[in-house]
Amino acid sequence: MALPKVFLTRLIPEEGLTLVQPVVDLDIWPGELPPSREALLERVRGIDGLLCLLTDPIDAAVMDAAGEGLRVISQMAVGFDNIDVTAATARRIPVGNTPGVLTEATADFTWALLLAAARRVVEADAYTRAGRWKTWGPKLLLGANVSGATLGIVGFGRIGQAVAMRARGFDMRLVYFDRQRKPDLEHALDVEYAAFEALLAESDFVSIHTTYSESTHHLFSDAEFDRMQPGAILINTARGPIVDREALYRALMTGKIAAAALDVTEPEPIDPSDPLLALDNLVITPHIASASRSSRGRMAQMAAHNLLAGLRGMRLPNCVNSEVYG
Ligand code: GLV
Repeated sequence: MALPKVFLTRLIPEEGLTLVQPVVDLDIWPGELPPSREALLERVRGIDGLLCLLTDPIDAAVMDAAGEGLRVISQMAVGFDNIDVTAATARRIPVGNTPGVLTEATADFTWALLLAAARRVVEADAYTRAGRWKTWGPKLLLGANVSGATLGIVGFGRIGQAVAMRARGFDMRLVYFDRQRKPDLEHALDVEYAAFEALLAESDFVSIHTTYSESTHHLFSDAEFDRMQPGAILINTARGPIVDREALYRALMTGKIAAAALDVTEPEPIDPSDPLLALDNLVITPHIASASRSSRGRMAQMAAHNLLAGLRGMRLPNCVNSEVYG
């Protein structure tokens, strides 16, 4: 019997590849960059399963190009805003994602960014390498205190909660905003609920952990930066378009807020000539919050399990549109 055809849009870690390779007819996109739109539409033709990444826009046209045989879309990421899930559900195609296994790595990295921005680690590194370190300076590279400060967490799902747990050692006051209030966690994690505007006004650090959708598009724009404290620091490890990039630039330039740390941008990658990149009070990394070796390995494994379950007509272990089974 012919093996099911699968298109894999980039080489993924061995942990996932070794599960998939022996049991499917696998077409792996060989590029370091994602397939172009044309290449994607071409390569999905006639496939039974698609294993994709957050860099691949998977819309109705891609599903239609694949044809009626497409019976699973498995994404190696927890976020899936690049996939038109409504279109997949309408075609009864289950969509899988990889929640949980990247929570700790992403929370760790959020803290790396928070501390780097607060204590100006990247600037200090550049200063030292440039040979500018002449003496110990009483006012050299002063930063913000983390211990005892207020941390505002926007979006209190798995990652937001893991970020909160790490704040304990820093003796911080924690406030969170989420569309759904979570009273059980307030006591357990010693966090206070705040309305979004109040959180902005009260926090020394604001860390974004909400999903991206129409309702969170440019959730942070001029009005929100106006509400924040002049010494505040914004951290975004969620999705780039949650922050209005131009408004952030204005806020950082004019001192409406003190600094920002971004692992995600709009668009990705950020244009190398973007004025944000010229600012010393911005720390920026290329969407690597989940990029610990073990986390990426487990994501690949989980994506493989979702793919194989879908190909076998079984329920995906992690399905974002379980209505397809209704
Ligand atoms: C990374 O951003 C993910 O959604 O997994």
